[in-house]
Parts: sequence; C-alpha cells; structure tokens
Amino acid sequence: MKKTTQHTYLALHDGTAFPAFGLGTWKPQGEDLYRAVRVALDAGYQHIDCAAIYGNEDVIGRALSDAFTAGDVGRDDVWITSKLWNTEHARAAVRPALEKTLAALHLDYLDLYLMHWPVAMRPGVLRPKSADDFVSLTDLPLEETWAAMAVLRDAGLTRQMGVSNFTAAKIRHLHATTDIMPAVNQVELHPYLAQDELLAACREMGVILTAYSPLGTPDSGELFRRDDPFKVLDDEVIAGIAAAHSVSPGQVLIAWAQQRGTAVIPKSTNEGRIRENVAAAAIELTDADMNAIAALDRRHRYIDGRFWCPEGSPYTLASLWDE
Ligand SMILES: NC(=O)c1ccc[n+]([C@@H]2O[C@H](COP(=O)([O-])OP(=O)(O)OC[C@H]3O[C@@H](n4cnc5c(N)ncnc54)[C@H](OP(=O)(O)O)[C@@H]3O)[C@@H](O)[C@H]2O)c1
Repeated sequence: MKKTTQHTYLALHDGTAFPAFGLGTWKPQGEDLYRAVRVALDAGYQHIDCAAIYGNEDVIGRALSDAFTAGDVGRDDVWITSKLWNTEHARAAVRPALEKTLAALHLDYLDLYLMHWPVAMRPGVLRPKSADDFVSLTDLPLEETWAAMAVLRDAGLTRQMGVSNFTAAKIRHLHATTDIMPAVNQVELHPYLAQDELLAACREMGVILTAYSPLGTPDSGELFRRDDPFKVLDDEVIAGIAAAHSVSPGQVLIAWAQQRGTAVIPKSTNEGRIRENVAAAAIELTDADMNAIAALDRRHRYIDGRFWCPEGSPYTLASLWDE
C-alpha cells in the first residue's frame, strides 16, 4: 500500500482501528466514479463509503478488483462501508440486500454495514410519492432490522454494524432493545450543522460519528431542486482560515471534522480535489480557528429528510430528528 499521506484512525468500541477519512460516492456513476476510486486508492485513501441506493456499487466493485489485481492495495488495506436501504428493513430482506451489495462490490465481507435511515419503505418503492409507500416503525421496528443485521455480522458478512441519520434517542432505543450498540453513526456534519450535543452523546455511548456532506453537498441542490442560500464552502470565516494556512476552504472543513474526532467522507471525482482532500489531514487548526468555526453553527440541514414526510406519512420531521 502506498504511504503517501498521513492517516488518522478512530478506535471503535471494540478497539478496531477505523480509518477516519474516506471517499464519498453518492451521485457519480460510470467512468467518472471508476477513475475517482482508482485515483483515491492511489492517493492513499483507506476508506470508501458506498450505499446500495447510490446505484453504483458495481462500478466501485470493478475499480476495487482492478486495484487489487494491479497490486495497488490489498483487501485488508481498505475499509469498505455500505448501507441497507429503507425498502429492505424486513427481517427476510436484510440478508439478500447485503449479499447483493457484496456481489456488486466483488467482496466477501464489508467492514461496516449501516442502516441508511431510521425509515422503512415498502419493497420496490424507488422514490416515495405518497404516505402509502412507507411502513411505520410500529409495524416494522428498527430493532427488528438491527437484529437481522447482527445475524449477518455473526455470519462474517460484515465486520462492524452501524447506523446513519440516527438521533441519540434512537441509538439508545436500539441498544436498550437488542443490547447491541452501533459502532458508528453516519450523519450530516459541517460547521453550519455542528451537532455538538449528538457528538457528545455518541462519545459517551462509545459511538463514532462519521461526517457526511462535510462540504455542504454543493452538487446535490439540483437533485433536490433547491438553491441553498447558505453555502458553507463559501463562508468568509472559512475562507479567512484557509488563506491563513495557505490551504483551500474544502481542506479547512475536512481538517475541522478530523480535529473534532469524527470520521469524514468528502465526495470528489476531480483528481486534484481527491488528492487535496486527503492531504487535509496534515493541517493543524489552532484553538482560535476551532472557536471561530464553532461560532458558525446555524443548525442548518442540507439533507433534512423532508422527502420521508409527505402528507399522511408515519414519519414527520419532528419524529425523524426527535425534536
Ligand atoms: N448516510 C447518508 O444519508 C448520506 C447522505 C449524504 C451523503 N452521504 C455520504 O457522504 C458523502 C459526501 O457527501 P456529499 O456527496 O453529499 O457532499 P460533499 O462531500 O459535502 O460535497 C461534494 C461536492 O463538493 C465538491 N468538492 C469536493 N472536494 C472539494 C474541495 N476540496 N473544494 C471544493 N469543492 C469540493 C465536489 O465536486 P467534485 O466532485 O467536482 O470535486 C462535490 O460537488 C457522499 O458522497 C456519501 O458517500 C451519506
């Protein structure tokens, strides 16, 4: 494995070293994604973040197997995370979903399997349009899905299990009902949504946070048909800190995530930015920088989950975020 970069690991609750920096893979497809994964592995990335719903695990699988064959990296050098989609929460659906992901990725096991959202949908629904597309958590409780995931971990299909978009209350509920604590909770995190309380609560429970959309997901506005007025990448305070360190604003956002003790998975398909992002691990933000960034929090979610809450849905923004 090439050691061109400085690496940080976070200890999971069983002591496993979790590579704290990875490549996000939501949105890109085809050759762009294939190149991005090969470049990232060449640049020393040790973690790739995938999901069944991204519809591109076959491309990532091809890039991984080509990289293994070429001797760029070995399977043990790279941490692969994937996620169970909302339509596959029923006990009988969980194993086939993971097997499909493993086949697409050309892997025998995942390093980490996450429940993508605390939301259940009817099988076959691609994009929910009405309340009928959902299954309530009373009819299909999260702990049932979680217990089915544990069976797969015990069978060796994934080494670790975790959750995504979970509040501290939902994690406590999973633990109370199954006695199994998630290793990781992957959530939206950036200076405009710092989630200090969630970070503190997860730290107390021994759950590592992974920061998704750490750059404010500037390429998903079109997908959600919104033009977000708050762009964290364009923030003046971030720009000032970047200039003071002679780095880019994106690198400041990544360094901030890492210095707070969270994992971080920026997405890029641009070779220069793929290399730039991993190099951010070497940046040392000062206490004054960290304090100035802490003051930017405006509890702003770019991905607020409103697509799970059409009229009549068993899910509301209040129930999703326990607010
Ligand atoms: N669990 C979940 O529900 C969930 C939800 C959202 C995301 N995620 C995961 O988190 C990953 C990252 O989040 P994201 O894709 O939403 O957005 P993001 O990483 O916050 O932003 C990606 C965007 O930033 C650009 N970019 C990358 N590096 C940059 C830099 N150094 N300077 C300026 N711009 C830069 C990228 O463009 P280029 O490609 O052109 O560089 C792309 O447009 C996803 O890909 C996915 O793996 C998980």
